[in-house]
Amino acid sequence: MTSNRVYMAARNHPDYLLSLKQCNQKIACLTAYDASFACWLAQEGVDAILVGDSLGMVVQGHESTLPVTVDDMVYHAAAVARGAPDLLRIVDLPYRSYQTPEQALDNARILMQAGRAHMVKLEGGERVLPMVEALRAADIPVCGHLGLLPQSVKELGGYRVQGRDPQAARQIEADAQALQAAGVAAIVLECIPAVLAARITVALEIPTIGIGAGADCDGQVLVLYDMLGITAGRRPSFSEDFLRDAPDVASAIRRYVQAVRQGRFPTQAHSFS
Ligand code: KIV
Repeated sequence: MTSNRVYMAARNHPDYLLSLKQCNQKIACLTAYDASFACWLAQEGVDAILVGDSLGMVVQGHESTLPVTVDDMVYHAAAVARGAPDLLRIVDLPYRSYQTPEQALDNARILMQAGRAHMVKLEGGERVLPMVEALRAADIPVCGHLGLLPQSVKELGGYRVQGRDPQAARQIEADAQALQAAGVAAIVLECIPAVLAARITVALEIPTIGIGAGADCDGQVLVLYDMLGITAGRRPSFSEDFLRDAPDVASAIRRYVQAVRQGRFPTQAHSFS
């Protein structure tokens, strides 16, 4: 007799996100860069924390993520680990820190050891496959990132929706399959049409985590400062200020988690066609 029971991984295990996909539970993820916010995220039920190199923009005040260094990532990842020791923490490999398999391995080891990362994230498709394969061969859990790639903002000509024309869409789908075959545990899909993200999500066994990629991804991630409405300047259209109608930060985070789990966020208004 076969059993349909799903093996549920521990909360800080790299397979935890896969378990949630297999249970049809939407994944609620947020970025964090320090111990205090990380602690609130853990208390309010967030499934995973991304220590994103977006910290270069929202914490350090740069115009892009390009100036962020491995040392910066270690500093913030270690602070987040102290605030949320039991939560799954994904940490970005920053710009030009994974140009060869050897460099990717060296820097991922630093993020895991000094930054206490459970998983590292890198941006790109076919181009990064040798790095992904080297990391997986060393048993380092990896998260992919496709669509709008902030580390390639100059090549992309700005922060624009990706994958709108059929050829670009096919490339993103092929990249997603190739990353899965190379062993990534999850893929962030950033700023792509909702229908494309939905197609990729159905086609993959591993979970997709969307940001500006519509409601049909397996999970959602937002930059914490955007969803608290404290980012200077204009909030991205795919984000939402959850603090606006909430009494405090904890309630805003809880509302975000509930909205993602119940499929109330994102709406069509936060999505691209
Ligand atoms: O750096 C970051 O915060 C990210 C998210 C935008 C997904 O990569």
